[in-house]
Amino acid sequence: MTDRLEGKTALVTGGAGALGSAIIRAFLAEGARGVMVTDLRKESLSQFSQVGPSAVDVVQRALDVTDGDAFETLAREAHERWDGLDIIVNNAGAVPPNARIHNIATEDWTRTLEVNLTGTFHGVRAATRVMRARGGSVVNVASVSALTAWPYAAPYCVAKAGVVHLTRVAALEYAKERLRINCVCPGAFPSGIHSGLPDGALDAIESRHPLGLGEPEDVVGAIVYLASEESRWTTGHALVVDGGYSLP
Ligand SMILES: NC(=O)c1ccc[n+]([C@@H]2O[C@H](COP(=O)([O-])OP(=O)(O)OC[C@H]3O[C@@H](n4cnc5c(N)ncnc54)[C@H](O)[C@@H]3O)[C@@H](O)[C@H]2O)c1
Repeated sequence: MTDRLEGKTALVTGGAGALGSAIIRAFLAEGARGVMVTDLRKESLSQFSQVGPSAVDVVQRALDVTDGDAFETLAREAHERWDGLDIIVNNAGAVPPNARIHNIATEDWTRTLEVNLTGTFHGVRAATRVMRARGGSVVNVASVSALTAWPYAAPYCVAKAGVVHLTRVAALEYAKERLRINCVCPGAFPSGIHSGLPDGALDAIESRHPLGLGEPEDVVGAIVYLASEESRWTTGHALVVDGGYSLP
């Protein structure tokens, strides 16, 4: 523990997933005093009821990020509970079935944009409405697929590219209010998000990462950095954490 988030409060989406749970563990280890852990189903968050020193307030809430009103309500709850919300991490994400464009169903396109892009917009908007008076940090989880073209994943790539650009626009709009908005662009690490990939696909993806596939813990350092005061003069940035994937 290095206390880089000492006294901070945070709301994290997709907290039951591989990266989400690593983020929560890192935030608690770095001294956060309050963390609202959210995901689609509250029962998937029970792992966090015992985590961290007893002085830390960890609350679990169900949140579908496609519901903008529900997102704002929880952000307000966190703000009132802790007399200030400092950090929102928009981590929830989902991938559509693997398909070339002629085979993509409109529902899969729409759903992928709703979860990954509109869900992040809801988190950014909640931050601008709830956190603006005292400033803070929003960290969006995009993907290196926002910056490099991935075949068979058009809706996901487009949604994540949208997250990068939303991050830039929002950063510019709210810099004067000391609300910083950044994103991370991870390369691939094993998680539930890859469960629908055909056999061997992850091996092919791994071969394109000079440092090999990552682990969620390889990405959380960048998120802690962007959430903390260490990055206080950084906003609108897309921090690539991809094991060298985007180098060639
Ligand atoms: N795993 C990778 O290789 C990789 C690479 C780059 C970026 N990412 C991004 O990292 C983030 C975390 O993904 P992960 O790899 O840990 O996958 P994961 O499947 O383990 O976690 C994703 C979580 O998001 C939740 N979720 C899905 N739809 C939701 C919704 N509508 N509302 C709220 N929660 C919802 C899921 O329940 C799940 O707990 C995602 O944004 C993903 O796109 C992952």
